Amino acid sequence: MNGKRRILVTSALPYANGSIHIGHLVEYIQTDIWVRFQKLRGHECRYMCADDTHGTPIMISANKQGITPDELVSRMHGEHSRDFADFLVEFDNYYTTNSEENRHYAELIYGRLKDKGHIDVREIEQAWCPHDGMFLPDRMIRGTCPHCQAADQYGDSCEVCSATYNPTDLKDARCSICGTPPETKRSQHYFFRLGDFAGKLQEWLAGGPVQEEMRNKLGEWFAEGLKDWDISRDAPYFGFRIPGTVDKYFYVWLDAPIGYMASTRNWCDRNGRSFDEFWLNPDAEIVHFIGKDIVYFHTLFWPAMLMGADFRAPNRVYVHGFLTVNGQKMSKSRGTFLSARQYLQHLDPEYLRYYYACKLTARVEDIDLNMSDLVARVNADLGNQFANLGSRVVSFLHKRLDGRLGRLTGDGLALVESLEKAADEIAQLYEGREYAKAMKRIAALAHDANQYVANSAPWSAIKGDPEEARNILTAAVNAFALLNVFLTPVMPRMSQRVEKILGRTGLTWDAVHERLEERTINPFESVFTKATDEAVEALLQSGLLPAGADAAAAAGGEAAGSDTPAAENPPAAVEPQSEAPPAAVEPQSAEIPFDDFAKVDLRVAKIIEAKGVEGADKLVELLIDLGQLGRRTIFAGIKKSHKPEDLVGRQIIVVSNLAPRKMKFGTSHGMLLAASSEGTTIYLAGLETGAKPGQRIS
Ligand code: 2FM
Ligand code: ZN
Repeated sequence: MNGKRRILVTSALPYANGSIHIGHLVEYIQTDIWVRFQKLRGHECRYMCADDTHGTPIMISANKQGITPDELVSRMHGEHSRDFADFLVEFDNYYTTNSEENRHYAELIYGRLKDKGHIDVREIEQAWCPHDGMFLPDRMIRGTCPHCQAADQYGDSCEVCSATYNPTDLKDARCSICGTPPETKRSQHYFFRLGDFAGKLQEWLAGGPVQEEMRNKLGEWFAEGLKDWDISRDAPYFGFRIPGTVDKYFYVWLDAPIGYMASTRNWCDRNGRSFDEFWLNPDAEIVHFIGKDIVYFHTLFWPAMLMGADFRAPNRVYVHGFLTVNGQKMSKSRGTFLSARQYLQHLDPEYLRYYYACKLTARVEDIDLNMSDLVARVNADLGNQFANLGSRVVSFLHKRLDGRLGRLTGDGLALVESLEKAADEIAQLYEGREYAKAMKRIAALAHDANQYVANSAPWSAIKGDPEEARNILTAAVNAFALLNVFLTPVMPRMSQRVEKILGRTGLTWDAVHERLEERTINPFESVFTKATDEAVEALLQSGLLPAGADAAAAAGGEAAGSDTPAAENPPAAVEPQSEAPPAAVEPQSAEIPFDDFAKVDLRVAKIIEAKGVEGADKLVELLIDLGQLGRRTIFAGIKKSHKPEDLVGRQIIVVSNLAPRKMKFGTSHGMLLAASSEGTTIYLAGLETGAKPGQRIS
């Protein structure tokens, strides 16, 4: 390490009108690991984020809920903050763009751009809803695609054939709020002259702030020419009024990145620090982590705004890909559209942190989440290799040798030295965001350490020479301690448990050079609990149920996304995803053709036997009678709401022709119908009397 760095790190600001989901978490976990790593190395690294609160969709959401936009955004701020904290994403400040600091910097930057002649004003024509009395963003107009004739497409692009067009080209255009056909109306708009910065941006890009893959993309954008950017919206709009106007507001995307500054400013004011040390200081580093859908904003508009307003441009813009689940876009119909909260109700956040780390590289690639792979991976690497190493050696040391460490000698010393030697390489991998490689290296080292213990067999050695056994265990404990340093950025909570056993506090990366000898350590306490298929099953089941408000918001419903038009994030920006949350989300229509629905065979069934499944808090095993179809076993996740003994004799409705599903505890031959929303009572669909088991429901 040469010298202490001062690094300001950001993740993209999530929209305040939807819940955080597991797709978003790729970015926050990726960033948090990097920040924790930098802090562990002793650098001053500050992680700033905020809710992105302005824009038409938020205004409309609030209207629909009968609350003010301010109320809506403050409620979401609480929800988002809790979700992040529970995933151990530790911001130095989690602020909001709906703040005085943000207004200040938005006005300051705009004022400077205007004074230097980088703002033009001209009249444009736009869709207007006479019923709602407002201009409609392209995404709030729906109609028939002019290319493929698909019905109910957005005003700027078709989700069926991917064509992009103008809202005026759409057939049967309608306002998506009230259904009225829009009219066109003229108004004055304010434009940021992006082209004025072409030279400076090229110069900046030559300094290498973006990944190779992005450099090519940017080359294409420059070749197409940098166009003026429309930064104003007419009232009614939820945002900051443009100084010197009565009814013009800054477009949400103007003040969103300024939120990085507002968050910094708010933190500085509360901590007696200077804003300029970060945003004006050429020796500080500014690093943005973003998804591939918002590259245009962060590599062209944003640096140009900063340059034009005499602030420094970012040093790095690190772009990641989207999340797929089982190789496909996240999908509500498959139960894979999972909110952060749903995940937390079933699984440990550190499983996901580790699993994402195992997948993340420095490239702009999508990463895939496969739930059974997650279970296998965390259990093998963290359970069988890492935690098991600690558990065996620390427990043995306490049971037989008073918990006292001896000396590092011979092969034991060689093992510890080999781990210590790997520290620089692992640090380089973290620094370069090559987490997948880092995790692989760490897992291999854990394997070596276990191999060493197996080969040196301290449990045999103790019979002849207890001190030799002590030294073997000492080497293993040192290896455990080193591995723990390596895993700390990814697994902060597990790391703390390990440190407690080792009796250390204030961990830094330099602990890799520390030798733990001739001292007593604390008794072993569990550091890791294995993931179970059953918990995963329950999570996926919860994904299938309507998850109430947050599912609706996360699904990108009418008012749910941003009003980021696809066109402003040129389609070339990898995939036309700009409206969607930063994950590959399936278009909302989970519709199935009637013929598919008709295949579902719903039958009345009578519960003959019911018993709780041991080792599963939610599952009940049911023996059901389906009349002429015979008797069958099914498993249902209903134990929280129904005592097994109360179920016997009840008439329920089941899908009788579902393909058998193998679960950990047995095979389920059907599925019962039930309803609940997150965390509430589960109601079983059923019939009181008069139906016969096996009777078809139509
Ligand atoms: O795409 C999004 O989710 C935006 N809310 C990201 C904003 S990032 C920054 F510019 F504020
Ligand atoms: Zn309308």
